[in-house]
Amino acid sequence: MKVIAARNYGTPEVLRLEEWETPSPKKNEIRIKIYNTSVNSGDWRIRKPDPKLVRLFFGITKPKQPILGISLSGVVDGIGANVTKFKIGDRVFGSTGMQMGAYAEYTCLPESAVIMILPKEISFPEGAALSFGSLTALDFIQKCNLQKNQTILIYGASSSVGTAAIQLAKHFGSLVTAVCSIGNFELVKSLGADFVMDYEGFHEESHNKTYDVVFECVGKSSISSNLQHLTKGGVLVLVGASFKDMFQAVLISLTKKINIKFGPIAETLKNLQFLVELIKIGKFKVVIDKSYPLEEMAEAHRYVEAGHKKGNVVINIAS
Ligand SMILES: NC(=O)c1ccc[n+]([C@@H]2O[C@H](COP(=O)([O-])OP(=O)(O)OC[C@H]3O[C@@H](n4cnc5c(N)ncnc54)[C@H](OP(=O)(O)O)[C@@H]3O)[C@@H](O)[C@H]2O)c1
Repeated sequence: MKVIAARNYGTPEVLRLEEWETPSPKKNEIRIKIYNTSVNSGDWRIRKPDPKLVRLFFGITKPKQPILGISLSGVVDGIGANVTKFKIGDRVFGSTGMQMGAYAEYTCLPESAVIMILPKEISFPEGAALSFGSLTALDFIQKCNLQKNQTILIYGASSSVGTAAIQLAKHFGSLVTAVCSIGNFELVKSLGADFVMDYEGFHEESHNKTYDVVFECVGKSSISSNLQHLTKGGVLVLVGASFKDMFQAVLISLTKKINIKFGPIAETLKNLQFLVELIKIGKFKVVIDKSYPLEEMAEAHRYVEAGHKKGNVVINIAS
């Protein structure tokens, strides 16, 4: 099978096309013929690596798993003897989690993985783009217990996480102010944002409004600036918090008793199912910016790392 492997950490050029043996599923595994994967912000951070601490988890001198990629969609084409949940021919999508391996024509996953049936209403590219930003946005929105008529400021609203967060916040009945560049105003309004603000002027403007939830999606604004916009008793969400941010957030939570949410999300089938149901009733859509063939993975990484994608970037592997 064709795979894209990163034999070393480094620039996008480390991502090379290789031929590997097609894997066979173990007793409790399914083999998926992958149709689409996506390139997420987490992928280039592992490839680079950034932060350097990535090496502790993914390999000190080089990636332990050379095939990156965590989001996928495809068709089950092989099953182990003990598999009961899936059958050959099932359309599926979801996340490979820390195992990665989605930059390939095939992968094997336990049937207990965060993988589920892809309904006919959702295309393979949409399925591959769904499990990263949308699951992240949903997990954090649940953590801040967003209520009807509450106000939320979504900073970095055009990102993968942000485009999902806008739609989820509207679904839960809140009033959304989206902060993004002027070029993305139409996009975020089309997703339901009630108010839009340009990120270039956001911090200079004497913008003195406060919000019940400040949802920082892209790690581009400072904690102190975000706190200025937080209503007393409100929740600050730091989706893309750096280690420095996390340290500062812990200190602030302890000393000023401010509710700050950060850290890795829990990927669950329940939440994936929730998103599927919203899509089916027309209340949620996955924003796809660009797609690339598998062979152009390096180019896709370059684009995503530049930090200006709108929503998600998808890789076409088969159809
Ligand atoms: N905690 C977790 O478990 C978890 C899970 C997933 C992701 N994350 C983190 O979440 C963050 C977001 O990921 P993502 O994939 O959603 O990001 P992304 O899609 O790569 O973000 C790109 C978007 O950010 C916008 N942007 C760039 N600079 C900005 C600024 N100064 N102010 C506001 N928006 C700006 C860009 O808009 P323009 O083109 O207009 O500049 C672009 O649309 C990452 O740091 C990622 O590591 C955390």
